[in-house]
Amino acid sequence: MVKVGILGVGTVGASVAKILLENADIIEARAGKKIVPVLGAVKDLSKDRGVPIPLTDDPVEVIESADVDIVVELMGGVEEPYALVKKALEAGKPVVTANKALLAYHRYELQEIAGNTPLFYEASVAGGIPIIGALRNGLSANHIESIKGIMNGTCNYMLTKMIQEGADYDEVLKEAQELGYAEADPTFDVGGFDAAHKLLILGSIAYGIDAKPEDIVIEGIEEISQTDVEFAREFGYEIKLLGIAKKVETGVEMRVHATMIPASSMIAKVDGVMNAVSVVGDRVGETMFYGPGAGGDATASAVIADIVEIVRGNTGPMLGYKKGLESGLRLLAPDEIETQYYLKLKVLDRPGVLSAVSRVLGEHSISIESLLQKPSRLADRVRLLLTTHRCSEREMRQALQALKALDAVDESITMIRIEK
Ligand code: HSE
Repeated sequence: MVKVGILGVGTVGASVAKILLENADIIEARAGKKIVPVLGAVKDLSKDRGVPIPLTDDPVEVIESADVDIVVELMGGVEEPYALVKKALEAGKPVVTANKALLAYHRYELQEIAGNTPLFYEASVAGGIPIIGALRNGLSANHIESIKGIMNGTCNYMLTKMIQEGADYDEVLKEAQELGYAEADPTFDVGGFDAAHKLLILGSIAYGIDAKPEDIVIEGIEEISQTDVEFAREFGYEIKLLGIAKKVETGVEMRVHATMIPASSMIAKVDGVMNAVSVVGDRVGETMFYGPGAGGDATASAVIADIVEIVRGNTGPMLGYKKGLESGLRLLAPDEIETQYYLKLKVLDRPGVLSAVSRVLGEHSISIESLLQKPSRLADRVRLLLTTHRCSEREMRQALQALKALDAVDESITMIRIEK
């Protein structure tokens, strides 16, 4: 019998205990041994967790208990779980975590500390979708060309509502919170940080890139308006918050931002709270993984898959490679990114303004792909909507500064990157 201790018996932790008990037969058949939840740690002992396991308010007691063989960390946060996971690994106890923030900051240190002790984290990215297993195992014959994913259900839910129902940003955020999709601090979701943590984990497995959140472009959906959604449609795009990691000639681009993607692409059709990740391997071609990215049972399903792997005797390697991976690949700086862009500008409706705008773009070697001019609510202004051919982020940022400095252009310019 293998005994499991759970740090954090909230929604996911309670689901882990419940599924281990209710699906005990199938789990035992697959793992080869009985797996039993024996102890949980919680902050507030007075709250009913709805699961028949003993609880303590001391997480160290769980780690040190002679009765606990595998530690499951579902507490959230970064430094406190880091200390606890480290302690468990140093005691030689395998750990399963769903904690993406912990891994976004400490995955390489934890890999060192773990050595041959298993540290698995399938649930940390895209909840119930087995994307970590796919990258670590199923696609291990491939050089990974790109990963593009909808990795935050809250943002996808909000954007879907805005696109399909014309809903208002604040109203849909409130709904997402009430439905329990959003993180405790929703800035984590709408600001792109939650997706960035997940992307960094995937970037390590695919490319061996040791980056932290501050090293990559992270933008959220706070600036997206109904107007952008409507104009995206006119240009044949949908807007999604994507995490993108891709190999280009000069290195690896990693970025999280609202993205216009062709409305006909598979990922554009992923609606509501669902997550999806497209992975292109050099031999397999495009693969697509779809499923629930959050929720108690879905996330617990991934946690238990890791426990089963450990019980079967799988020890890693944690990040999926034993020697340097793709040696020489470096993370490109945000300025080095190259892509296409959509711009929305509000400009004075008078002669010469359009040519001034296109001159600024031309001076930064930015070529316009398509252009629309629409009336605005203000009589003396019009909206200019345009998409560009590929150009560097550096040129685009400089061009935006120059455009904002023009008298005829309002300062609030919206820029959305396009991925085809
Ligand atoms: N807040 C996250 C989401 C939950 O909306 O996808 C899973 O990380």
